[in-house]
Amino acid sequence: MKKFSHILAVDEKNWLGKDNDLAWRIPSDMKYFKEVTSTTKDPNKYNAVIMGRKTWESIPQKYRPLPGRVNCILSRSITKESVDSQEDDFVLYFNSIENCIKELSSKENLESIFVIWGANIYNQLLTHPDLEKIYLTQVYWDHGCDVFFDGVPHDFHEESSSERYNEKWMEFEWKVYKKNK
Ligand SMILES: NC(=O)c1ccc[n+]([C@@H]2O[C@H](COP(=O)([O-])OP(=O)(O)OC[C@H]3O[C@@H](n4cnc5c(N)ncnc54)[C@H](OP(=O)(O)O)[C@@H]3O)[C@@H](O)[C@H]2O)c1
Repeated sequence: MKKFSHILAVDEKNWLGKDNDLAWRIPSDMKYFKEVTSTTKDPNKYNAVIMGRKTWESIPQKYRPLPGRVNCILSRSITKESVDSQEDDFVLYFNSIENCIKELSSKENLESIFVIWGANIYNQLLTHPDLEKIYLTQVYWDHGCDVFFDGVPHDFHEESSSERYNEKWMEFEWKVYKKNK
């Protein structure tokens, strides 16, 4: 099975968001998200992003699917057959993460897989044997949100970290954690 990564932004207390939204908007972090999830080493390959059904539905129709990436939607209630035909081959529905990773693993031209939201999905998968990396934007602020990330597991180490940036009165840095061998 193919390995996958989480990509997320948390504040100082590991809060992820508030009222079904991010508690902050950092334009360069949005750019970073797009770059990390879209870029491939091999130009003939593409990446996939995995999200919960509610996240998918919260993306305005004109912005979805996220371009250049296979968009995988996890849902136990929706099947591909029940979705209207406007959606294309870059939109796939799965009723479990296992089925999703299994199908993506069989795609020859697929390079990397990223879990991009929701909180429960991030947390459910922290002990998954195929979770290899966590791309974490650390925001230095206590936002008092309502959804929480359980934290980087102890069997991961920090592989890299950027300098601290300051944008829109917010300090943040990008870190990458990798599972220990
Ligand atoms: N501001 C931002 O940048 C940003 C980004 C992302 C999301 N959001 C917000 O976050 C909200 C959604 O987040 P959320 O955490 O509430 O929901 P979510 O994780 O996006 O979606 C939850 C749904 O995913 C499906 N699901 C979850 N685990 C599954 C599993 N193991 N197997 C199969 N299906 C599974 C279920 O769908 P079914 O009910 O269909 O079975 C579940 O109801 C949105 O309203 C959006 O506004 C904001």
